[in-house]
Amino acid sequence: MSIISMAELPILQFEDKIVETVDKNPVVVVIGETGSGKSTQLSQILHRRGYTKSGCIAVTQPRRVAAVTVSRRVSEELNVPLGDEVGYAIRFEDRTSEKTIIKYLTDGVLLRESLSNPELSQYSVIILDEAHERSLNTDVLLGLMKRLIKLRASNLKVLITSATLDGEKVSRFFSDCPILNVPGKLFPVEIHHSSEKPKSYIDACLNKALDIHTQEPEGDVLIFMTGQDDIEKLVSRLEERIQRLEEGSCMDAVIYPLHGSLPPELQIRVFSPPPPNCRRFIISTNIAETSLTVDGVVYVIDPGFVKQRQYNPSTGMYSLDVVQISKVQANQRAGRAGRTRPGKCYRLYSSVAYKDDLLDATIPEIQRSSLAGSILYLKSLDLSDINILKFDFLDPPSFEALEDALKQLYLIDAIDDEGSITSLGRTMAELPLEPSLSRTLLEANECGCLSQALTVAAMLSAETTLLISQSKSADRKRKHTPSNLPDGSGLGDHIQFLQIFELWHETDYNTGWCKENNLQVRGMKFVKDVRKQLCQIIQKIAKGPMDVKTSKRRREDQDYRSLRKALCSGYGNQLAERMLRHNGYKTLGFKSQLVQVHPSSVLRTDEEGMFPNYVIYHELIATTRPYMRNVCAVEMPWVRPVFAKLQNLNVSKLSGGANQSHEEEVQPENADVQKDDGGGNAAPAQPAEDRDSKILAARERYLARRGQANK
Ligand code: CDP
Ligand code: MG
Repeated sequence: MSIISMAELPILQFEDKIVETVDKNPVVVVIGETGSGKSTQLSQILHRRGYTKSGCIAVTQPRRVAAVTVSRRVSEELNVPLGDEVGYAIRFEDRTSEKTIIKYLTDGVLLRESLSNPELSQYSVIILDEAHERSLNTDVLLGLMKRLIKLRASNLKVLITSATLDGEKVSRFFSDCPILNVPGKLFPVEIHHSSEKPKSYIDACLNKALDIHTQEPEGDVLIFMTGQDDIEKLVSRLEERIQRLEEGSCMDAVIYPLHGSLPPELQIRVFSPPPPNCRRFIISTNIAETSLTVDGVVYVIDPGFVKQRQYNPSTGMYSLDVVQISKVQANQRAGRAGRTRPGKCYRLYSSVAYKDDLLDATIPEIQRSSLAGSILYLKSLDLSDINILKFDFLDPPSFEALEDALKQLYLIDAIDDEGSITSLGRTMAELPLEPSLSRTLLEANECGCLSQALTVAAMLSAETTLLISQSKSADRKRKHTPSNLPDGSGLGDHIQFLQIFELWHETDYNTGWCKENNLQVRGMKFVKDVRKQLCQIIQKIAKGPMDVKTSKRRREDQDYRSLRKALCSGYGNQLAERMLRHNGYKTLGFKSQLVQVHPSSVLRTDEEGMFPNYVIYHELIATTRPYMRNVCAVEMPWVRPVFAKLQNLNVSKLSGGANQSHEEEVQPENADVQKDDGGGNAAPAQPAEDRDSKILAARERYLARRGQANK
C-alpha cells in the first residue's frame, strides 16, 4: 500500500476543518468527489482525533462489495488484521470482534442493529456513506438519524457523505446542518459523444476499447456494462481480439471483470498495482461509478445504461430493466477518467441524447421498491413519536407503495386490522429475511417443519444462482438440469430447493457432488452457512424447543404438506389461482392480472395436463410477459383464511386512520382502492394523530378518484 498516494488524498488536507466542524455540530454533510477519500479516510480521521474513545465508528455502505473492500483497505492502511480493530458486517457475514472500533456495514445491517438497540448506543459516530446512491435503507436511516440525534445530542455524531448532489437538500433535512465541500482535484476530462446510437453496445465497446488500446497512450480503461452476462461476453471477446493483435504492436493488456457476484478474491484484484507496461481494462457494472475507485483509469467508455430493479406496487410486479442513466451518473462516470491525470470519456450516445433524454438525477430506490420489509422495521421500532405514514423521508415514497406494504403485512399477520404490529410481526422483523420467508419460518415452527423451512429460506437467500447454467439462455436454465437432481416431486421450486439441499446433506456436504450436479460450490456453501445462522437467530428469538436439524422427511409427510402450508401463510399476498380451462393464473392479492408459471419452474401438470389450482410465488417478474418465479402448489383450505382477510381488508384502517368505518372496502377481485362517495368530509377538530390520518385518507381518496378518472 503506498502511503504516498494516501497522503495525496484531498480529504486529508481538510482534516482540521472536518474535525472542528464535527466537534461543533451533531450532523455534518461531507461532499467530495469520488475517490477523494471519504470512505477510507473519514473514519480514520475521527479515530485519530479521539472519537473511538467513547464508542465505535460505524460507516454504512449501500453495497456489500464496498463494505468488504473498503474495510479491507482501511485495515491495511492501519496495519491491523481485518476483523480486529477494523471489520465489516454484511447480511449473513460478520467480520468484527470485541476489538472492533471502525466498523463498515451495509445500511441494511445497521437498520437491523437498531431493532435490538434503537439508540445504537455502541456507536459514537455514524457515517452514512454514499448517500447519493439513495438506497432504500439509507433513506430510512436518514429519517431515523434525525430522531436519534435529538435523543443522543451529547454523544453522537452523524456524518452524511455524498459524491455528488444535493448537499443542500440533505442539509435542509437536518435543520440546515453545515456542508463541507472537499474540492476534488479532478483533471480535465475530454468528452467525446457518438454521433448515433450503436446497433450493438457490446460491439461498440469492443471497437472503442481496441481503438484506445492501439492508438492512445498508456492509461487504464474503465468500461461500464449493465450486468454480469454482458461483462463476461465483452471480457472474452476483448481477450480474443487483443491476442490477435500483432506482437509488439502495442503494450500488454490485462482484462478484469468487476461485479457483485464475483468471488471476493477476484473483486480485490483490481486494487493491486498493475504489472509494468501493461494496460488494464476494467469491465464493470455500476459499482465502479461511485462505490469503488480503481486507480489508474484514464479512459472511460460509457454506453449510458444501467440495470435497475423496479417494483410496481399496484401489480406487485418486479422488472429488471436496462434503463438510461441520469445526467448525474453520466458525469460521475466521466469523472472517473480524470483522477490521476487528464483523461477521456467516450459516451456511446449523442450530446443531444445527453441533453434531452437523460433524467437530471436518478430516481431514489425508495420510489421504486417494495416497502414491506422497511415498514415492518419501522413498525417494530415502536417509535411513539413516529407515525409510519408521515415518517420523515427525504423523498417520500408513493402512497400506493405504502399501502401495498401495509396490505402485504396485514395478509401475513404482521400487523392487525388496526395497523398495529402483532407479536408475530415483531418476531418476523428480527429475522434477516424478507417478510414472506420470516412468516413461513414462524409458521413452520408451529407445524413441526421448521427444519425444512430453514433450508428453503436459506436456498432462496443465496445471492447467486446455484445452478451453473448449461445453456446461455436463462429461461432454459433449469429445464436442462441433469436428471439425477430431484425435481420437487412436481410440487414446485421450493420443494426442489429442499430436496437438493437434503441430498447434499446426505453426502455430508461433499463438494464433488455439487460439481457432478452442476451446482455452484461456493453458492451451496453459502446456503449451508446461511442456514446455520438462521438456525441460531431463530433459536434466540422464538420461544420453545425447536427442531432445526436437517433430517430425512418424516413418513407421514410424503407430500410436504406441512411445509407447503407454512409457505402458504408466508406468501399471503403472493398467491395465484388457476383460471378455468387454462393453464394461466390470476393473481389474488393484487389487482387480479394474468400471469404464467416461469418456464424454468419444476412445477408439473397433472395427468390431465393441468397445473394445480392454487400456487404461491416468490416473485412476479415482468420480462417478455408477467411470470411467477419460484412457485409452489398449495391447497384450497390453506388459501381460505387469506381470502377472508382480503374480503375484510380496509386499507385506510391499516394505515392507522382510526374509526373510519364508512371508508373504502377493498374487494379481492379488485384490490386497488375504490372510490367512495366523494371524500373531503370536513373533519371535526381531532387529536393531531387522527387529523393526520384523515389528511392521508383524503389524499388516498383523491388518488383513487384520479385513478378512476384515468380509466
Ligand atoms: O469514498 P471516496 O470515493 O471519496 O474515496 P475512497 O473510497 O476513500 O478512496 C480513496 C482512495 O483509496 C482511492 O484512491 C482508491 O483507489 C483507494 N482505495 C484502494 O486502493 N482500495 C480500496 N479497496 C479502496 C480505496
Ligand atoms: Mg466512497
